Amino acid sequence: MKHLHCLITFVLMFSFGIAKAGEGMWIPMLLQYNEKEMQEMGMRITAEDIYSINRSSLKDAIVLFGGGCTGEIVSDYGLLLTNHHCGYGYIQKHSSVEHDYLTNGFWAMNRGEELPCPGLSVTFLREMRDVTEKILHGTNVDMPEDERKAKIDENIKKLVADLEKQTDYKVSIKPYFLGNEYYVLFNEVYTDVRLVGCPPSNIGKFGGDTDNWVWPRHTGDFSVFRVYADKDGRPADYSKDNVPYKPAKHLEISLKGVEEGDFAFVFGYPAHTNEYLPAVAVDQEANLIDPIVVDLRGKVLDIYNKYQEQDPKVRIQYAAKHANIGNGWKKWMGVTEGINHFHGVEKKRAFEKDFQKWVLGARNRYMYLDLLKDFEQSYKELEPYELAYSYLAEAGLRIELVNFAGRFARLSEVTKDTPQADIDKMVSSLKGNAATFFKDYYEPIDREVAAMLLKEYLKEQPADFRPDFLNGIKDVDAYVDQLFTKSMFTDEAKVNDFLDNFKPSKAKKLQNDPAMKAYQSLIGFYRNEVNGKMTELNANIDRMRRLYMKGQMDMQTDKRLFPDANFTLRVTYGKVEGFKPQDGKTYRHFTTLEGIMQKENPDIYDYVVEPRLKQLYNNKDYGRYADKDGTMHVAFTASVHTTGGNSGSPILNADGRLLGLNFDRCWEGTMSDLIYDPDICRNISVDIRYVLFIIDKFAGAGHLIDEMSIVE
Ligand code: ARG
Ligand code: GLU
Repeated sequence: MKHLHCLITFVLMFSFGIAKAGEGMWIPMLLQYNEKEMQEMGMRITAEDIYSINRSSLKDAIVLFGGGCTGEIVSDYGLLLTNHHCGYGYIQKHSSVEHDYLTNGFWAMNRGEELPCPGLSVTFLREMRDVTEKILHGTNVDMPEDERKAKIDENIKKLVADLEKQTDYKVSIKPYFLGNEYYVLFNEVYTDVRLVGCPPSNIGKFGGDTDNWVWPRHTGDFSVFRVYADKDGRPADYSKDNVPYKPAKHLEISLKGVEEGDFAFVFGYPAHTNEYLPAVAVDQEANLIDPIVVDLRGKVLDIYNKYQEQDPKVRIQYAAKHANIGNGWKKWMGVTEGINHFHGVEKKRAFEKDFQKWVLGARNRYMYLDLLKDFEQSYKELEPYELAYSYLAEAGLRIELVNFAGRFARLSEVTKDTPQADIDKMVSSLKGNAATFFKDYYEPIDREVAAMLLKEYLKEQPADFRPDFLNGIKDVDAYVDQLFTKSMFTDEAKVNDFLDNFKPSKAKKLQNDPAMKAYQSLIGFYRNEVNGKMTELNANIDRMRRLYMKGQMDMQTDKRLFPDANFTLRVTYGKVEGFKPQDGKTYRHFTTLEGIMQKENPDIYDYVVEPRLKQLYNNKDYGRYADKDGTMHVAFTASVHTTGGNSGSPILNADGRLLGLNFDRCWEGTMSDLIYDPDICRNISVDIRYVLFIIDKFAGAGHLIDEMSIVE
């Protein structure tokens, strides 16, 4: 029996103990340690070809696009590719009824037609260095946390100041391995970035939210920009005298396509992962918090759907809200599903047993002794606060009326002593808020959502630990009726009239509005009962997680661990492959234009096919972009470890040539932010040949293709 137990532990350990193919988000400057494995998997280039500070390398073509995506340079004239959903906001800003680029697409037929995008920047990493020693200098494991933090802050400040004297680059120092290591990043930020082209949404967002996170997928999720610089190639704000940025390196594009089993890697900016959590935290997230949020969001989405189906106007009004809520909803559903399917919590527990054994194996591991026990305790203490927070955000503030009323909270505190200029500023910004709010507001939806959410709130959260106003509610339906009838915030004319004639004596009216009262009760509860304690508990948990991370590194000296994603440049690699999401079900690794035609439905917004695309399909007019099987490949999956922020990242082949743009994951494997399982975690990319086909054949923007370096 004992033996059997050991064996099982060993097997579990083993599957956890070695880096699995596909797992890992690696620091580019340390890629020489991965080189051997990458080459064994098929890579034909070197680590130095990917990241070098001595010569040009692929890293010179990769950018952080705006604040949340990745982009890559594909020509000597600063031409940049990213996802359609990454460029969306900028495309939208340039769209109007006369020029509806979201619906129709946009193509600059020469550089003069490219559209400036104020506020958009791209960031190039020029160099990174390990500065752990300097930053941790003067700290030790036994020192109180606040002292440690003060020391580190001081070291960072000093080093940044020193380095800034030596360089024109932007200097930032970031923690890796949860604060066990520190690296300095030298960045260059370009602020003149122009929109060059994008397909119509029927292509760039084909499948919409219905297909979001789902395989098989047929989205042409790309858009094209260009980076401009001053005549010396340096960053400069928009000017018509600026010239296209000439990169040290741009990506070459492969037209060879992919085969199952091919080596592939993704180079980009993954935002956040939590791969080293204790079991108790994974359990709490996957089995308690996520299911609650998924359930609440699912019920909200059901109501949205019902009204959206009845009325095309409502469908448009609630499209963006639906997308926002739906993105997390589907992802977290996948997290729970994946963790349980993979027995993630049990595997973590088995690992923890071994960790504890290891800790007991030597005296100098004393600092880890109570760690796991303390985790159990701390997460248990955190639980009611996490729940309270989830209900506040997902139930209370999800009521649009209440949320909107909250915008007026500052105005409700105005007194006769408030300077008129401040009041004028508030009023004018609130008028803008009101216009945006009412444009997309449909009261019957909000009423039904409010009644549903408040019932859930009352049912699930304890009377002694929830916002006060809830305890005053006897009959939810009657309360909601009153709320919506009495509040002025449902009525655009009333709100505007109020703002136009606002004076301090009217602040009371705001305070007494029932929607404002509900808002204040929610926020007051958060401020007084939740926030302080949650911050305190999380600070302690962060300290423990840092220590546990160090313990995991000390224990597994034979295994290279990768630091959690922290929105810095990483390389992640695996294979082009499909998967088996369920018993009896197999997903092929690629999709084709045939699938777009199969999904076509002129009555369903997400599945309308552009006539021009249909024509190209009917004529099989794919040019050199067709696969050797004669079809037009649209998207493909790979076992490459990616997360949010990797949108727009290049996926590259064994020769470092561009195969496609990463844009999503399969929902069954979204647990990869917590635990990676090579069997079910897959990223999804749009095939570069489909991208070029759309640019060239669909849009007739072949001049852009001429700039690129294409390898047939
Ligand atoms: N799921 C992807 C991500 O997390 C894509 C989201 C945008 N696409 C959409 N259909 N909503 O960002
Ligand atoms: N769509 C995500 C993004 O915008 C990438 C998908 C993921 O989370 O893997 O970054």
